[in-house]
Amino acid sequence: MIPELTRPSVYMRDGTRVEGVIQAMRQAGANALQVISDFDMTLTRFSYNGKRCPTCHNILDNSKLISEECKEKLKDLLNTYYPIEINSGLSAEEKLPLMVEWWTKAHALLVQQKIKKDLLSPVVRESSAMLREGYQLFFDCLQEHSVPLLIFSAGIGDVLEEVIRQAGVFHPNVKVFSNYMDFDENGALQAFKGQLIHIYNKREGALLNSGHFQELRDRHNVLLLGDSLGDLTMADGVYGMENILKIGYLNDKVEERKESYLKAYDIVLERDETMNVANAILHHVT
Ligand code: C5P
Ligand code: MG
Repeated sequence: MIPELTRPSVYMRDGTRVEGVIQAMRQAGANALQVISDFDMTLTRFSYNGKRCPTCHNILDNSKLISEECKEKLKDLLNTYYPIEINSGLSAEEKLPLMVEWWTKAHALLVQQKIKKDLLSPVVRESSAMLREGYQLFFDCLQEHSVPLLIFSAGIGDVLEEVIRQAGVFHPNVKVFSNYMDFDENGALQAFKGQLIHIYNKREGALLNSGHFQELRDRHNVLLLGDSLGDLTMADGVYGMENILKIGYLNDKVEERKESYLKAYDIVLERDETMNVANAILHHVT
């Protein structure tokens, strides 16, 4: 039905169901739709020219805002905990406390560095973060059809916002749930605000922000995009869900994780650095 779904990077457990959901969404149209997307490694590229692209955290970790000694510590944390994040042999329950440990330790180090608010913008500009190919069409199409986009990220809200602002796509229909920095009167980072969002508590994050979903209560169809199995709960706060289509980017440890991704996501995009599939679906539905 949609040619992009026959690309070699696209895998589906049940193609007929996917077609049915897309058809139902098309009938209900743009007014019934909301999009909920993860940020790091979902809206941003996982790699470019064979080199890994940074997450929100990595943008800071690798920047001039961090001392050499602290960089080493952040790198050690990444080398310890990222393999746990993507380890398909461990359950979400086993990983959860370790992920909390990672975020907590990393945030404490960032706070120690007293990062200056006004340096975030140049640091993002100098970074190698990249939105996925086709991002412009994705953001512009949603804006044009007044479809709300919720970006739900366990990354850093201030950094994420800067990435989409610099890309010219922080349109008024975009709302962000993420970890936001708290700056002191001199504009230096002193803490992170509110309850920590990590990759395995997005359900709780969704339920805490019930006001947002209340506002969108007439939109019963959801397009969800993620790259982690933790992203699957991002739509748990949606009122009266009728149709949901879950698209999952499988970026790393592809062979080991393929089966679990196929079980959990309706569409799995293997090593696909583009927004083409989401764009084609949106084009069809809106
Ligand atoms: O936007 P998203 O929810 O994907 O952001 C979470 C990602 O941030 C995780 O997949 C994790 O690999 C990454 N992360 C990081 N450094 C940390 C904590 C998380 O790069 N200190
Ligand atoms: Mg992600």
